[in-house]
Amino acid sequence: MGIQITPSILNADLASLSAEVARIGSADWVHVDVMDGHFVPNLTLGVPVIESLARSTDLPLDAHLMIDDPDRWAPAYVEAGCGSVTFHVEAAKAPIRLAREIRAKGARASMALKPATPIDPYEDLLAELDMVLIMTVEPGFGGQKFLDLCLPKIRRARELMDKHGVETWLQVDGGVSLETIERCAEAGADVFVAGSAVYAADDPDRMVAELRARAEG
Ligand code: DX5
Ligand code: ZN
Repeated sequence: MGIQITPSILNADLASLSAEVARIGSADWVHVDVMDGHFVPNLTLGVPVIESLARSTDLPLDAHLMIDDPDRWAPAYVEAGCGSVTFHVEAAKAPIRLAREIRAKGARASMALKPATPIDPYEDLLAELDMVLIMTVEPGFGGQKFLDLCLPKIRRARELMDKHGVETWLQVDGGVSLETIERCAEAGADVFVAGSAVYAADDPDRMVAELRARAEG
């Protein structure tokens, strides 16, 4: 798999979700940020909205669950129609069991790390995962400044993936823009979330193409 662009709809017009998703037709996935007001200090949307969204677009949905107790709630997001479900390792009680359950239900299983969470303790889990998401802002809000201090962790994650010969994708999320995407790609990321950069653009789909070109170098 080459470079993939997964725009976040967090900063789109959430009252016109299907129209907003129709504006990013060349995206590889739609990144949907689920926040519960507990794991992060913000509240967004959940299963019923995702079920409707899945019916209104042909693009696959990439759910990013910023919620407590993903062990209990994540499987419902597969049933709601998400092709990829990301849980936070800081919130998961049994990440291996959860990843296996997500896969068994038919979605790609992905694990996210907040900026202060290291990747090394999870080296042995990589084969259980279809994707690792490295947050490059503190989760909770769109439009924050990219944290360069996360770049060594992206590089380290890529090294570990190469060492184990796994096909795991490496996603970055937070502050990704035309200014920062090359740094992430150079460090080894191959899946790029961009929220405000895409939806603040006059032509979001054109921005998707520009981000892709920049990441491909
Ligand atoms: C932040 C979310 C991100 C966010 C990205 O907690 O996980 O997906 O929407 O937005 P930008 O690209 O504006 O940082
Ligand atoms: Zn996200």
